[in-house]
Amino acid sequence: MADSAVGRIGILTSGGDAPGMNAAIRAAVRTAQCIGIDCVGVRRGYAGLIGGDFIPLDEKVVKGITNRGGTILYSARSKEFMTQEGIARAADTCRYVGIEGLIVIGGDGTFRGALDISEHGIKVIGIPCTIDKDIGCTSYTIGFDTACNTAVEAVDRLNDTMQSHERCSVVEVMGHTAGHLALSVGIATGATIIMVPEVTYDFERDVVSRIRTARLAGRNNFTVIVAEGVKPAHQEIAEMIIKATGIDTRITSLGHIQRGGTPHVRDRVTATRMGHLAVMLLAEGKTNRIVAMSGDTYTSMDIREALSIEKEFDYETYQMFSAMTFLDKNLLPINRGK
Ligand code: F6P
Repeated sequence: MADSAVGRIGILTSGGDAPGMNAAIRAAVRTAQCIGIDCVGVRRGYAGLIGGDFIPLDEKVVKGITNRGGTILYSARSKEFMTQEGIARAADTCRYVGIEGLIVIGGDGTFRGALDISEHGIKVIGIPCTIDKDIGCTSYTIGFDTACNTAVEAVDRLNDTMQSHERCSVVEVMGHTAGHLALSVGIATGATIIMVPEVTYDFERDVVSRIRTARLAGRNNFTVIVAEGVKPAHQEIAEMIIKATGIDTRITSLGHIQRGGTPHVRDRVTATRMGHLAVMLLAEGKTNRIVAMSGDTYTSMDIREALSIEKEFDYETYQMFSAMTFLDKNLLPINRGK
């Protein structure tokens, strides 16, 4: 299309995959085709960019992938791309095949890579896609909702058997160094305790005495949701609970099942909107931007600014959870509603 600032774009997925990546790829390809931009799929993230691992992308290749988990482009973390030589080689490869703009789908690490390659004259747009929801510039990241639902379904099942055997279940959920996933999963499953890296715990006061309080209130099974970034890790927490309370306790690490599966509606729709917006930004000649959500609005932000924003943990919701769980009105956060 004569009006587009770029004639050919590359699309890649990098870092940990997340449900919805395929929907974003499809939306980008279909939008690009609508306005006459040629699309190249880069396989295996930045490693594929260095090595020239490309596939042509058109509407046939992306047909029927909106509902598919994983990424048809594969994902990887590239050590070579962390060197100046690797970045320069990737930029050379882009120029060699005529890639003028690059859409990178992933998390903060993926965006830092995009910034590096932009310094070699390649236009870049990032799409936030991670189950961790740990990207400061956006209120939502593709994949979070699906991962929450997967984890909630698993914890619901665990709760059934914990109830039958009057046990305590210590469940580790993903989240990297953040507790956003753990917070939502814990609230949605009526957990006894949610442990996140953003909060410091006194084991006796915040874990043992809360389990005792719940037991005195008539509970005979307990669930402790532990984000993977919490120290000590969930195994040690379980041992400490057994030692302090004598309650039969089991551990479960939900692991990578949280990253797979059919994306839920929110992730399909968000991915489609973000994939579309990313292409439109490139077509307008924009570069170095991250597509983001601000409330319900789709927007974009400069990459450097986006990377400088630290994701805030929702302490208010965390506090509300604690107050309601332990019927402590002193812990209730101030109602900020209008
Ligand atoms: O960033 C997504 C994530 O699933 C994190 O929650 C987790 O810490 C990490 O990736 C696991 O990465 P890997 O795929 O290397 O096991």
